[in-house]
Amino acid sequence: MIKQKQMYIITLFVLTLMWILPAFPIINAGVEQDPEIIEKIDSLLTIMSLEEKLGQMTLVSSSFTPTGPVLRDDFKQLVREGKAGGIFNAFGAEYTRQLQQIAVEETRLGIPLLFGLDVIHGYRTIFPIPLAEAATWDPDLIEKASETAAAEAAASGVHWTFAPMVDVTRDPRWGRIAESAGEDPFMNSVFARARVRGFQGDDLNKLNTILATAKHYAAYGAAEGGRDYNTVDISERVLREVYLPPFKAAWDEGVRTFMTAFNEYDGVPATGNRFLLNSILRDEWGFTGFVVTDYTSIPEMVTHGAAVDTAAAAAMALHANVDMDMQAVVYLEKLPGLLKEGRISEKQIDNTVRRILYTKFELGLFDDPYRYSDTGREEETILNQDFLGTALEVAKKAIVLLKNEDQLLPLSDDIEKIAVLGPLADDNFHPLGSWRAAGRREDTVTLIQGLNNYISDKTEIVHIRGVDFRDTSKEGFKEAVELARDSDIAIVAVGEEADMSGEAASRATLILPGVQEEFLKEIYETGTPVVMILMAGRPLQITWANDNIPAIVNAWFLGTQTGNAIAEVLFGHYNPGGKLPVTYPAEVGQVPVYYYHKNTGRPKDPDYRFTSKYIDAPTSPLYPFGYGLSYTTFSYDDLKLDKNVLTPDDTLHISVSVTNAGKFEGDEVVQLYTRTLAASVTRPVKELRDFKRITLAPGETTTVDFFLHPSQLRFYDSGMNYGLESGTIKVLVGTNSIDVLVAEFELELK
Ligand code: BGC
Repeated sequence: MIKQKQMYIITLFVLTLMWILPAFPIINAGVEQDPEIIEKIDSLLTIMSLEEKLGQMTLVSSSFTPTGPVLRDDFKQLVREGKAGGIFNAFGAEYTRQLQQIAVEETRLGIPLLFGLDVIHGYRTIFPIPLAEAATWDPDLIEKASETAAAEAAASGVHWTFAPMVDVTRDPRWGRIAESAGEDPFMNSVFARARVRGFQGDDLNKLNTILATAKHYAAYGAAEGGRDYNTVDISERVLREVYLPPFKAAWDEGVRTFMTAFNEYDGVPATGNRFLLNSILRDEWGFTGFVVTDYTSIPEMVTHGAAVDTAAAAAMALHANVDMDMQAVVYLEKLPGLLKEGRISEKQIDNTVRRILYTKFELGLFDDPYRYSDTGREEETILNQDFLGTALEVAKKAIVLLKNEDQLLPLSDDIEKIAVLGPLADDNFHPLGSWRAAGRREDTVTLIQGLNNYISDKTEIVHIRGVDFRDTSKEGFKEAVELARDSDIAIVAVGEEADMSGEAASRATLILPGVQEEFLKEIYETGTPVVMILMAGRPLQITWANDNIPAIVNAWFLGTQTGNAIAEVLFGHYNPGGKLPVTYPAEVGQVPVYYYHKNTGRPKDPDYRFTSKYIDAPTSPLYPFGYGLSYTTFSYDDLKLDKNVLTPDDTLHISVSVTNAGKFEGDEVVQLYTRTLAASVTRPVKELRDFKRITLAPGETTTVDFFLHPSQLRFYDSGMNYGLESGTIKVLVGTNSIDVLVAEFELELK
């Protein structure tokens, strides 16, 4: 019960706030802080008790969809007592309004709550998983997708997404590869920027933008053996050149929050790692936003063996300038004691509260705490036709054609009977992938529904599931085989279940789960041409299928518009042009296998034993990074550099002529790589520098231009200085990371 006197203070305070806080100036994304907001925060800090400050530093889950142990299920009580500044896993205009009401009306100061949620690839309109979004190689489109997700989430009371995940990952066993832009630092940086722009827009005060989070800082994707939460042990050079650039890119784009990672870096858990958080993030990069921990990662530092108890862990985190404690409630419980003992200072607490409150001001929550929780706007916004249109465009562009022998695809309208088989043929749940926020299975267009939407009058579709995901029963095989035998084409949709990728979903094998491959083999043996549709959150080892099945379509998890997107591709309404943002191994034992590797002193040579390879596996991966086919073919000619010698102040103009040599209009992703041949430290055999997705009509030729500035060629030298060295640089341009035209120039420093 709120006492009368308290009520009076609240009213007085709110009125005062309304008076002293007129519509504050809008600030652009970036590093500039608004002094007026800082002033308001400072005056607020003077009247906040220690407990109220610690409350702002505490983020707790509602009971919706937690991803770990719920340590406190009394979250409403915490809010009521002013001991929680943010709630995550709460969404929906009505529900968030109710919770906000508790904070605003029942606490002494009425400071509004911040609502966070994992809006990873859509809110209600679900887009392809992030790995698939990267397969579009179309960052502008993914910016639009993130904008859509932000608009829906913001209309449902959500202020803050825990995205983008910008962890580079070279190990497909790691389930969270599904959430990344793949194996390359440049790709991850480009998509990090696009997503931050999409979520945050140019003005956080607008009602269709939300705060973004660059996560998981840092090097989470380098978990040993691809096992989630596992130890990371990489050099500082690899950290800086491979794992950090996407985080820096996100901050350059003005991302407001960072989330720490579960793993350790160089023996110190990321959540208490002063090198990562203070030296790099704050001092080198000048990050001014706030840092939230990952789920209970402060107390986990005790389990790591990096702190003797949770109090020591809390001190570690605070000394590393970690601002918000997700779900552990240890800041609230332990910081008062630490303060008394003089192990931390009130100034440190004030600094973090300042950073958190700043974002609440930016979102306009002090003007109107309920502005995001509007049921009318929610209803108008959610799943609107434009959003569904964007989701379809992304889904189509994300599809990667892996194989198409004898142009089996696209399917002709004259086919009489198609058998549609497999566990993903009529499934509306798994194609949404992991982290589907408010996504609902009933909104998903299944493959069967999509085929029916696009099928010609002459064609009949018959569906039998035939096989399960993991269940090893073969009972359904016979009927499916008979149907396939009796059909002109068999479309077989196989792959993983949604929860086989994402968090805590590492796999030791990369094979199709259960008896799906055996099923595929039996259907293949009928002699009916087979089109395999692969849905999964990661690269799978589909070596047998690649050797035998004539057509393979990689459809990842494509979200709400799954069936329509695949059907458009199968029937030739859309010519697929996606490319792999990650290498597909031929054998799991090849992992880690990625294009950006070093040459070694003995590069692989299948004909010579004493070279770097396995004696019992192919020397090449199944599909290289950047790979993907089309219904047409593209030819590359005339790779030209405008100079042979490049100096640091100049720019290299690279051009190449690309021709659509086939009969269909189609998209091609033209990729630019470089290779530094010799330097004080060895460099990778290829580094992606730029790319362009273009559309060409049959027979059309175009010139694609790239401009390479020497600053793009910098690296850490043997003394860890970031800069350039003179030498020969190869330029490689092509349709994937293997099939390239090559030229070279000299980089000369004077
Ligand atoms: C995940 C984060 C996520 C958080 C909140 C954690 O388990 O690692 O990526 O944002 O939960 O749901």
